[in-house]
Amino acid sequence: MVARIIPVDPFDLVIFGASGDLARRKILPGLFRRLIAGQMPPNARIIGSARSKWDDDAFRKEVSNAIKEFSPKEYKNTEKLNEFLKTLHYLPVDVLGDTGWKELAALIKKDANPVRAFYLSVGPSLFDDIAERLTKSGIATKDSRIVVEKPFGHDLETAHQLNEQLRRNFKEHQIYRIDHYLGKETVQNLMALRFANALLEPVWNAQHVDHVQISVSETIGIEGRGGYYDNSGAMRDMVQNHLMQLLCLTAMEPPARFEANDVRDEKLKVIRSLDPVEPDDIVRGQYRANGKAGSYKDDAENPDSRTESFIAMKVHISNWRWTGVPFYLRTGKKLRARMSEIAVIFKDPPHSIFPNAEIRHGGNSLVIRLQPDEGITMHMIIKEPGQGGLRLTEVPLDMSFADALKGAPLDIADAYERLLMDVIRGDQTLFMRGDEVEAAWAWVDPIIEAWQHAGDTPEPYDAGGSGPDGSLALMHREDRRWRPIEV
Ligand code: BG6
Repeated sequence: MVARIIPVDPFDLVIFGASGDLARRKILPGLFRRLIAGQMPPNARIIGSARSKWDDDAFRKEVSNAIKEFSPKEYKNTEKLNEFLKTLHYLPVDVLGDTGWKELAALIKKDANPVRAFYLSVGPSLFDDIAERLTKSGIATKDSRIVVEKPFGHDLETAHQLNEQLRRNFKEHQIYRIDHYLGKETVQNLMALRFANALLEPVWNAQHVDHVQISVSETIGIEGRGGYYDNSGAMRDMVQNHLMQLLCLTAMEPPARFEANDVRDEKLKVIRSLDPVEPDDIVRGQYRANGKAGSYKDDAENPDSRTESFIAMKVHISNWRWTGVPFYLRTGKKLRARMSEIAVIFKDPPHSIFPNAEIRHGGNSLVIRLQPDEGITMHMIIKEPGQGGLRLTEVPLDMSFADALKGAPLDIADAYERLLMDVIRGDQTLFMRGDEVEAAWAWVDPIIEAWQHAGDTPEPYDAGGSGPDGSLALMHREDRRWRPIEV
């Protein structure tokens, strides 16, 4: 099935931090793929800006190299590559000084395209200055969009400050706070699955659901980001944003319409319904050396670090739909496999008419796999085929998107590509609203403060394993078990 591509309006996109890692890995190769797909119009302009003293040609060369490295297949499309490179311009701008702003204003006002967006691929400490200079110099208009990345704050107070700073110069409907998990194909499919099928809604509640497991397991460690990560940990780096968003989309009520504020209102209600978490319901872990794999402390270059690289927790949502249903969240680095999924485990039938058939609890579950191999699997209990009595067995009704939609190239856009096109279209549905981010921090802050107060030390786990024993115990004590971390 070939995705139907609707081209976006011609746009001017200014990327601050255009020489940085995110721009090279994700933003620029992503835009190139959208051009190949026919979604980005060739008369769009991408204006890179950073401190490097490059000109257009030098920038084009850098971008061409980045595409070669991060999008090697598409790189071979020379005709399209040349078309894309022509859309690129570069201006060195000093975001804290006056240099470059006049030139940027002149460039952007000349042959201006209908949509104007600014991507701040820079540290949050620069948001305020850039936003201010963009409006003061008349570069940003009242319809322009500003895109910012995580980390959006370190706690509620800093997130609130960032919101205030951005809102001094931009209105909420112009601000696009990226959480790239919302751009993942299956995350949106979760909404389609829930709200475009009548089948699931009647069982999507405490009456029928035993518990929910949300796992984001990574094999990578902290990859040279020790300075940032050691100050954040899994709670700030993953739970406050990515896992929280997955939890919201799984648990939220049906919005009135699939529109930005309707969806975000419902997500906010979920966050506000979260109970504080009991200390016994959280397990923090930190990977230790195992074989060739080094320890977290080595990677972070901090022998005394108490930062968690793993977290597992049991969360309760106190509302009409979910009271009594535990949501288990788990994420960690240097685990056995890269695997992200949401698993909804349904209750057992109220009475078994097959007394001799051994069947474990939770035979019915719906698993929504985010990565790798995106897809949805419904686990059902059936009769084991063959003679000799009636035995039961569990079978997966599997719908891997790649298999189910086989036959023609499936153009699944990467999360960044999708989100970038949404910015240009002016669709904020998959972006976090300021109040949502603050509500998430308001829930997370007391948890972190309690650890700090107690001088909590994370439980060690082997690099390449499934996380600390405490995480297994969190489930076992309630006669449940995690789905295995495997691909
Ligand atoms: C980022 C985190 O937001 O998400 C990283 O800062 C993490 O620590 C990454 O590795 C995971 O994203 P993905 O898309 O690879 O699951």
